[in-house]
Amino acid sequence: MKYGYFDRQAREYVIVRPDTPTPWINYIGSGKYGGIVSNTAGGYSFHKDPQNRRVLRYRYNNIPMDRPGRYIYVRDSVTGEYWNPGFQPTMKKLDSYCCRHGMGYTTIEGEYKGINADVTYFVPDDRDFEIWIVKVKNNLNITKKMQIFTYAEFCFWDAIADQQNVDWVQQINQGRYNDGIITWHPHHVAKSAAFIATGEKVSSFDTNLESFIGKYRSEANPIAVEQGACSNSISLRQNGVGAFCIDVELQKGEEKEIVFVLGYAEDKTVLKDELKDYLDPKGAHAALERLNLYWKKYTENLFVETPDEEMNLFLNTWNQYQCKTTFNWSRFVSLYQLGLARGMGIRDSAQDTLGVMHTIPEEAKGLIIKLLKCQYTDGRAYHLFFPLTGEGGSGDAPVKKFDWYSDDHLWLILAVNAYIKETGDYAFLNEKVLYNDKKTEATVIEHLNKALDFTANNLGPHKIALAGRADWNDTLNLDVGLGVAESVFTSMLYCRAAMEMKEIAEFLGKKEDAANYIKLFETMKNAINETCWDGEWYKRAFDDYGNALGTKDAAFGKIFINSQSWAVLGGVAEGEYARKCLDSVETHLNTKYGIVAMYPAYTEFDETKGGITTYPPGAKENGGIFLHTNPWVMIAEIMMGNGDKAYQYYKQIMPAARNNEADHLEVEPYVYPQNILGKEHPQFGIGRNSWLSGTAAWNLVAASQYILGVRAGYDCLIVDPCIPASWETYKVKRVFRGATYLIEVQNPDKVNKGVKKIVVDGKAVDKIPVFESGSTHTVQVIMG
Ligand code: GLC
Repeated sequence: MKYGYFDRQAREYVIVRPDTPTPWINYIGSGKYGGIVSNTAGGYSFHKDPQNRRVLRYRYNNIPMDRPGRYIYVRDSVTGEYWNPGFQPTMKKLDSYCCRHGMGYTTIEGEYKGINADVTYFVPDDRDFEIWIVKVKNNLNITKKMQIFTYAEFCFWDAIADQQNVDWVQQINQGRYNDGIITWHPHHVAKSAAFIATGEKVSSFDTNLESFIGKYRSEANPIAVEQGACSNSISLRQNGVGAFCIDVELQKGEEKEIVFVLGYAEDKTVLKDELKDYLDPKGAHAALERLNLYWKKYTENLFVETPDEEMNLFLNTWNQYQCKTTFNWSRFVSLYQLGLARGMGIRDSAQDTLGVMHTIPEEAKGLIIKLLKCQYTDGRAYHLFFPLTGEGGSGDAPVKKFDWYSDDHLWLILAVNAYIKETGDYAFLNEKVLYNDKKTEATVIEHLNKALDFTANNLGPHKIALAGRADWNDTLNLDVGLGVAESVFTSMLYCRAAMEMKEIAEFLGKKEDAANYIKLFETMKNAINETCWDGEWYKRAFDDYGNALGTKDAAFGKIFINSQSWAVLGGVAEGEYARKCLDSVETHLNTKYGIVAMYPAYTEFDETKGGITTYPPGAKENGGIFLHTNPWVMIAEIMMGNGDKAYQYYKQIMPAARNNEADHLEVEPYVYPQNILGKEHPQFGIGRNSWLSGTAAWNLVAASQYILGVRAGYDCLIVDPCIPASWETYKVKRVFRGATYLIEVQNPDKVNKGVKKIVVDGKAVDKIPVFESGSTHTVQVIMG
């Protein structure tokens, strides 16, 4: 079954029936005020931090699913019938329905008995609020009188207290109305408030949710909408709603636009002034235009034309868009990660910077600095932090011996190196940044050295990295309190990080430092190769009792994906080891929906392995297709020159390719989900946890930098393709340090890899130079 299609021209995904298998969502906002809007207008919003400053409430685990949201009710004043353009919450069967998820906005349109209503939701100009432009049109031959109601259910700012401390929260909530603005704030808060506003004449309003809904009713049949008027309730406790009732009369064929603005105000007394540019439809449309321009510009730095339409669609639009969303919100806030307790992940955000580096490196640098501030003076880092407060910690998993993860700090090296290559901003390495004790500061390069030190200072009996609480695989909890469990993956990541530090040192001409990094790399590499090769592949870890995970003799977890891909990415596997371990991935782990994380999955809980064994076989890290890991295999294959295999792996997880079987994929076909149930699960092939996943950044990296081969170097732009041999040609437009490179790659000999000739602006060169910002250059690359 198909629920929608890609409108390539408009860069929208168009959903044509509301009953999608899961809510298919979009994000609005750019990382400050923002939120989630589903295809039936479900979702919530927040300012800067979904835990500490929630604006709209969402009911987790609700039945019916996906409520509440940003609702508009249209009521016929004569018959009293009412409906929503987004189907929910009345679920009245509409004569037509359509939801367009675009870049930073969503438009939901419904028609019922000759009245058409559409609502466009977006955040203007990075402000602290969102706009709803509501358009109502009378397609009948008679004059129609109707009422339009809004529904915005407010949350207490602390979204955990909102759920847990009803005793306090519901006694202090306050709703007020003044001149077209409803505000909502705790009693003891003097200035700031959540609010909803309109420039239209308000016939009645409610600030108290209970008054609007009525007893033993729900959002599906609020008493106010049924009766055709709100009760002008001023809420002095209980729950809050931003409900306006606006009378509308439309002649035949006439249409009218009404604007609502919803958000957070630092000072509620000056709201009217702040909003005046947005409250009339003209101002609101102008803001929407600016948003479209923003996204046009955002995506201009990378534009590809390959023989593969889905790759073009994803690299030019959806993959870049998803990367910006993961950059904004890490793994903090989706319909699955609820914006509660987990904060922004250090390893996650560090990897997310890779997906935006080509277009907003300055913002990436801003996030990198925040992450460096999460480092302890000994080099390890928090596991997560909260964006509003900057406070961080190690999460809520049970602690035995260690409260740190073995990998968080190492990802910082990859992020900083990518930033330097993109920008050439070497001075950043000497900028001073505080550690998380907020007293000690050090240069960026010192922070990175400390990261390496921490791992080198925490080795286990096999002289490889201690596992700590877990590594990239959050669920591999090997620590039972003995303090010796080791992670092969982290050790491989360390090798990669050491080599990236070596590259930086070499480029800066620091030969001694470079030699030292090589020593660190080799020591670890040798330790891994001495004890972690299992015959056909690399082992994955050693548990606290010294037993290896990921060996052919094990009953479960014989082979894990990450210690194969990272053996190559980390430069650990040489000669036949590299080919063998990647071939083992294909033989034991590959499926038509993607490569599973390990095999065979654990069937019973085992406290020496921890969280991974809490999942049923085939789910998540326990043998599921954890998509984030798949691009690492693609990159490893490319490093081995195997463009056909890498491309096959890329294609098999392309969500757009499953648009026609969306009932089986279940999640949105326009973004990568976090995971797909694996071959050992009865629901093999179903996607879970859409949107927030490192898959976004790494697939963008794998496809654009490794398959298409266009990547930043310290003093050049690199074009090093590794493509399917059948491709004859492709083009990439890349803006790099301000200059535009119009790249055309030709593959006359039908090879996977290898560059015979590079011609820049008509002249043969060895290296593609960095050009003056603002200039445009042609680059021809002949493979062979
Ligand atoms: C989740 C976590 C991420 C972790 C991954 C694998 O996506 O957010 O940090 O690496 O799971 O366990």
